Amino acid sequence: GHGSASSTERRPGENKGFVEEMRFVAMKLHTREQAPKEGEKKAEKVPEQKPMAQWQPTKEGYLNFLVESKAVYDAMEAIVASNADPMYKAFIDCGLERSEALDKDIEWFRETLEMEVPEAKGAGKEYAEFLKNLAKESPPRFLCHFYNVYFAHSAGGKMIGRKVSEMILDGKELEFYVWNKNGGLEKSLAEVKEKLNEAAEKWSREEKDVCLEETSKSFQLSGALLRLIA
Ligand code: HEM
Repeated sequence: GHGSASSTERRPGENKGFVEEMRFVAMKLHTREQAPKEGEKKAEKVPEQKPMAQWQPTKEGYLNFLVESKAVYDAMEAIVASNADPMYKAFIDCGLERSEALDKDIEWFRETLEMEVPEAKGAGKEYAEFLKNLAKESPPRFLCHFYNVYFAHSAGGKMIGRKVSEMILDGKELEFYVWNKNGGLEKSLAEVKEKLNEAAEKWSREEKDVCLEETSKSFQLSGALLRLIA
């Protein structure tokens, strides 16, 4: 804003912490079609992702995406509940968990659409295995994936869910895109942001950079998951 900050105004940089750094790196990896910004130069393309306008989703592909996604969220949630590293405890029951919701959605496909539910044996299983190893090896790298997976899903993921549902599910709202724990999505995001900032405060600049560097790997692995819908 202009002039000096009043008690109700945000101080410059008040909400800036390490999450801002992670967000900045993530936004640079989006294509223009994914997250357009006026006046922005054409961003570098993530090769795994073609523009959503060209997607031709199917119910089978989408169910497969949900099943593979569940493997990833199961792993995330098991890791923070484990003692792979003491800093993960802060993220138990953070309100962003998606495993239970995915269970319900997958059951809906089975029950209502009478579809056969596949097993997770592709991109999601691979990502889950990767995370389990990484969690013990490098908390900064793991938390990069944690941030990107949960926050991407709350932003672009939500938009993708709405569009795909309009295309192939008559607009049915899936539980995957509904957050009602811990006071809802906005509150959970704000709390997790704060906890991530707190965790990163204990990191050296090198550890922070290692975390930021992991963003492209996160895009690569999540991109492979998203491709299951396209
Ligand atoms: C934010 C779209 C893939 C990570 C966003 C936003 C959009 C978007 C519209 C909000 C932009 C804003 O607030 O200015 C998409 C689309 C994707 C995609 C359409 C693929 C088709 C990904 C992937 C990742 C990712 C693969 C990483 C794994 C993020 C993050 C944010 C974000 C971390 C910031 C969220 C926040 O600040 O709360 N995305 N995205 N996105 N996306 Fe994506």
